[in-house]
Amino acid sequence: MRTVVLGASGEIGAALLRRLRENGVDVVAAHRSTGVDAYTGTGLEAAFAGADVVVDCTNVTTTSAAKAIDFFGTVARKVSAAADAAGVGRVVCLSIINAADPEVNAKFGYYQGKAAQEQAYRDALPAARLTVVRSAQWYELARQMMGSLRLGPVAAVPHMRCRPLSSGDAAAALADAVRIRPEQDIEVAGPEVLDLADIGKAIARRAGSPRWVVGVRVGGSAIRDGGLVPDDPTIVTTTTLEQWLDEEFAA
Ligand SMILES: NC(=O)c1ccc[n+]([C@@H]2O[C@H](COP(=O)([O-])OP(=O)(O)OC[C@H]3O[C@@H](n4cnc5c(N)ncnc54)[C@H](OP(=O)(O)O)[C@@H]3O)[C@@H](O)[C@H]2O)c1
Repeated sequence: MRTVVLGASGEIGAALLRRLRENGVDVVAAHRSTGVDAYTGTGLEAAFAGADVVVDCTNVTTTSAAKAIDFFGTVARKVSAAADAAGVGRVVCLSIINAADPEVNAKFGYYQGKAAQEQAYRDALPAARLTVVRSAQWYELARQMMGSLRLGPVAAVPHMRCRPLSSGDAAAALADAVRIRPEQDIEVAGPEVLDLADIGKAIARRAGSPRWVVGVRVGGSAIRDGGLVPDDPTIVTTTTLEQWLDEEFAA
């Protein structure tokens, strides 16, 4: 089975690539420096030649709804058109649990982009050729946020009540959905409900930096108060925050 991973140099794309290769899957890594631009469409059809499955792990870093909707919607339409042209059997779209819910994303532009992505794929592809894997937030997200919302010794992390997991565990669930087509879309979440700001604080304690992590209220009350927590996820992963921290900070 030949699989193209779009966004293969990213946090989850790289983990998925490793996982699929370990499983003996023939994988093509695609991102802009390999000559594939999923936003303009450049190189997509050539990259998809002979592929059975394409996994969309692309990302844009923005809080702007307009930019997120434009990026994720455009990429989904270009990927779907190229998948049709190249005869690709199935597209796997990586999304976020409850991000498409208008009550959850009303004040969170990035999640409005994820809603546009899911809708664009549903509009373009029949259900039999589309799998949506919705993951909860990753422990790594707190670290990414601390990297971008930082001023000297202080970093900010949004209060987000979620059921986080490691990106490695999310990649494993994604790899399973690549190898065997699930009968329905999948939700994958971690073992406990936590606040993303507390994850940031736990990472900073282990890393010894930044000195202060402050939780900030952004993105609307649904994000803070449990709107992102799934009722009954299809897959519950086992790696706890403490276990993940132990692995990340092993000497
Ligand atoms: N963070 C979370 O907690 C979480 C949870 C659930 C789902 N997700 C979803 O997972 C996906 C991946 O997130 P991530 O954090 O792994 O992303 P990331 O680390 O920011 O990596 C993004 C990837 O997309 C590629 N990319 C960006 N623009 C591209 C373009 N125009 N054409 C081709 N490739 C492009 C990048 O490579 P180049 O820049 O080299 O092109 C890179 O490989 C996102 O859709 C996100 O919504 C994230």
